[in-house]
Amino acid sequence: MMSILFEPMVIKGMELKNRFVRSATYDGYADHTGQVTDKQIQFFEDLARGGAALIVTGISHVHDSGQTSPIQNSVASDHCIPGLKKLSDAVHNLGAKIAIQLFHAGRESARFLKAKNLEAVGPSFVHDDPYFKRPYRSMTGEDISEVVRSFGDAARRVREAGFDAVQVHGAHAYLLSQFLSPYLNRRNDQWGGHLENRLRLHREILKDIRAKAGEDYPLLIKIGVQDGFPGGLELREGALAARFLAEWGFDALEISSGLRGKRYEGTEFKTKLNRPEREAYFRGWCKEIKGEVDVPVMMVGGLRTFALMEEVVEGGEADFVSLCRPFIREPFIVNKWRKDNHYRPACISCNQCLDAIFQGNRLQCMQEAKARKN
Ligand SMILES: Cc1cc2nc3c(=O)[nH]c(=O)nc-3n(C[C@H](O)[C@H](O)[C@H](O)COP(=O)(O)O)c2cc1C
Repeated sequence: MMSILFEPMVIKGMELKNRFVRSATYDGYADHTGQVTDKQIQFFEDLARGGAALIVTGISHVHDSGQTSPIQNSVASDHCIPGLKKLSDAVHNLGAKIAIQLFHAGRESARFLKAKNLEAVGPSFVHDDPYFKRPYRSMTGEDISEVVRSFGDAARRVREAGFDAVQVHGAHAYLLSQFLSPYLNRRNDQWGGHLENRLRLHREILKDIRAKAGEDYPLLIKIGVQDGFPGGLELREGALAARFLAEWGFDALEISSGLRGKRYEGTEFKTKLNRPEREAYFRGWCKEIKGEVDVPVMMVGGLRTFALMEEVVEGGEADFVSLCRPFIREPFIVNKWRKDNHYRPACISCNQCLDAIFQGNRLQCMQEAKARKN
């Protein structure tokens, strides 16, 4: 089918066969040491067969202090390299590209680390925070430098393992968003205060990755440009942050939300996408940022209708469309759209997949699981 969505595009030498990205999705298929499993390889093979040009893995922690689940992929030591190599080979054999999402959870590691009698860290401790009740401590300068180094080391490992790119997780509730948010980052040293200080962590990570994985390695970032509650990061600053990141050398931006507010409506996982005006819920932010940067931009968040995605790319509001939940239900959805652009995804964005993974389960579409039982 002729559509701009099936036209190729290159990001820093990485040739992508179309404009569909599988947005990073935690899957819980790693083993208890954080290594790739055969089941996980099968899961990615389905995605690779399904037609998306680029698959971004789920959160993969670069340092043990940033882990949130016992069955999450680790890129914190060289042990990960052979398993990741098998995974990247499997995806390449089926004609897709794969990027890993490099991640540190910051204070969001509190629950997981408490069970191991360890303390979580964040930019600064906020007393009586209505959005976060667990204990954690403010990071020292040495903690921050260690985390920076761990991003670079992880990127070097991932490149060695044959991945096409890395995506730094700078969105949602996690460490980089925590640093960027004026609500949560209350530091008065070089890592806090005005916008460029709150972005220093991002910039140092960029430099460390470049030094260790190479100037020519495609380096993407998913950035949260607005927090989900009043008093947090505002779009005015978030859009400026996106511009800085592009100028400093990130090769592509995926535009999402920052710290989470209350209920799903205050997060990146909005529901009730049953009306066209509920779809593409970060479209306005993405369009604004796309107009201000010179690197490729990915739109994510509630994209469901082919015609709407086509309009977004044709209109120059984004270069790529990035989807998560529809792929959980239908890994082959891009191929379905290639045959029939009126096809409606079976995913109803109910978020039961999400509730299940937050309870420690492996990823699956719960609607499909229910249908199988009946
Ligand atoms: C089960 C599940 C796991 C997710 N895991 C990640 C993740 O590891 N990293 C990330 O950046 N976003 C993650 N997300 C968010 C998605 O990438 C995406 O930004 C969000 O779901 C909106 O896109 P969608 O409407 O196409 O689902 C996850 C979402 C879901 C539902």
